[in-house]
Amino acid sequence: MTTTTELYKTVDLAEVSTWYKAGKTTQFPVGAGATIKYEDKQIAVFYFPRQEKWYACQNLCPHKLENVLGRGLIGEQDGVPKVACPLHKKTFSLTTGENLNGDCPAVAVYPVKIEGDYVYVGFAD
Ligand code: FES
Repeated sequence: MTTTTELYKTVDLAEVSTWYKAGKTTQFPVGAGATIKYEDKQIAVFYFPRQEKWYACQNLCPHKLENVLGRGLIGEQDGVPKVACPLHKKTFSLTTGENLNGDCPAVAVYPVKIEGDYVYVGFAD
């Protein structure tokens, strides 16, 4: 059986072998997150409208292993885009996945690109 730590692994842009078409840009909330499914992974996708930037990370919060990060509040801390888990407010960098306010393991982050009207998330498998 695959454990959750094996399931989610940060993908660098250079490692992307599959750009998964996640949906139309208009299907995603502005300034918030949404969850998509890619194979057996749940991925949270976020759109920051002011910066016109998109980010993706595992939906699974490493604190209590709940699939909730896509429902988290997004913001910035010292210029770093972040998401706060809706359950106990652990926050994670959306660029490195690092837990910014505690000692939780990092979350996996994934590259996102926009082509035409569509959002693509990059995977390495
Ligand atoms: S489950 Fe996410 S902070 Fe506790």
